[in-house]
Amino acid sequence: MGKRKIVTLGDDGLRKMCKPVEKFDLRLAVLLKDMAETMYDAEGVGLAGPQVGMLRRVAVVDVTEDHSGLLELVNPVITEREGSQTGREGCLSVPGRQGVVTRPMKVKVEFQNRKGQWMELETEGFEARAICHELDHLDGKLYIDIMDRELTEEEIHGHIPEDDDPEEKES
Ligand code: CO
Repeated sequence: MGKRKIVTLGDDGLRKMCKPVEKFDLRLAVLLKDMAETMYDAEGVGLAGPQVGMLRRVAVVDVTEDHSGLLELVNPVITEREGSQTGREGCLSVPGRQGVVTRPMKVKVEFQNRKGQWMELETEGFEARAICHELDHLDGKLYIDIMDRELTEEEIHGHIPEDDDPEEKES
């Protein structure tokens, strides 16, 4: 299929609880490939199923500049959280807006790969933030629900006092 359409705020699917993936078949492989392609094309760092109209517990994340860090997360669960980080966040489904969001600094996440094998990942910083953001999507939650505050148009393009991670990409 290739690139898929990203739905935006107002689409009912963004507010639904997603169902677990049960079939680890070619269809899932194609979905994951399409989601990565869609995320890279939109210059995002993460994309979740409901953002492309797929109400399943699936997400992709890649916080690297050179697209070398792709994570395919199927049925992901955060099993440990540690510390906190406060910084700016955006979302491909909430275009033109950004907010200040507090997330755990470190997370441990358990997930299945495209073949159904269970994997475990410990990560921190911006990748941990992106994973938390995408997992929220799978429960119908958006960063705007939990943000400390929304950034002004001026702040979106400049410095904010809370910025302890300088990334400005959207997921
Ligand atoms: Co998002």
